[in-house]
Amino acid sequence: MKLNEIVPWGRTFDEYQRMFNLTASDLTKRMLGVGDGPASFNAESTAAGHSVVSIDPVYVFSAKELEKRISDTYETVIEQMHKNADHYNWSAFQDVDQLGRERMKAMNLFLSDYEQGKQQGRYLSNQLPKLPFTNQSFDLVLCSHLLFLYSEQLSEAFHLESIHELSRIAGEIRIFPLISLTGKPSPYLDRVSADCRANGIQVDIIPVDYHFQKGAYQMMRLTKRVD
Ligand SMILES: C[S@@+](CC[C@H](N)C(=O)[O-])C[C@H]1O[C@@H](n2cnc3c(N)ncnc32)[C@H](O)[C@@H]1O
Repeated sequence: MKLNEIVPWGRTFDEYQRMFNLTASDLTKRMLGVGDGPASFNAESTAAGHSVVSIDPVYVFSAKELEKRISDTYETVIEQMHKNADHYNWSAFQDVDQLGRERMKAMNLFLSDYEQGKQQGRYLSNQLPKLPFTNQSFDLVLCSHLLFLYSEQLSEAFHLESIHELSRIAGEIRIFPLISLTGKPSPYLDRVSADCRANGIQVDIIPVDYHFQKGAYQMMRLTKRVD
């Protein structure tokens, strides 16, 4: 992964809570954030006493490198958001500029926690489809804006292998959103659901209290069935 090819953009704890319907009881679980990038979910969760490990290939870079990349790409992302503003619902955020300020707040929280979190093993430079964790080392996996969203870039085989790997690591997986960057449902939803059911995993598509990108208002919850 090259630093000049990444475009860091991170969401907050509040957004994760709403994307994944996280309850007080969920937050007591051992959580793994997959593709957390510069989101502040880990920083804010840790500060509140919860247990989160985040994995992302961008964690190979230092805080200084990521900070520079964030400031180098920020204006371009904001310009793109202005161009595509009608792809989003502007109820939780007033406009692109307020969204930009919230994202910067999240990324600054991440940056201020990052080096310490790395030392504590909370930010690990790993990537799907294979992860270096033992079986069932987490209770709950959260995957925000990676699987399904990048259906044009990541193959069906990649999705199947990744979800198989995540179900080896944890009893429950939640994935949001279920649409791709085109705004249409991911073409992999049916095949992934069928594959999970065939492997004894219950599949639920659940509406959530978060609807920013138009059409993105459901998560997939995968739970290992205990017979
Ligand atoms: C759109 S960002 C989402 C960041 C964060 N989850 C959020 O919702 O704010 C997608 C993230 O997935 C990471 N990523 C890309 N390929 C990955 C892979 N194979 N395994 C894990 N993470 C990956 C990227 O580096 C990036 O940080």
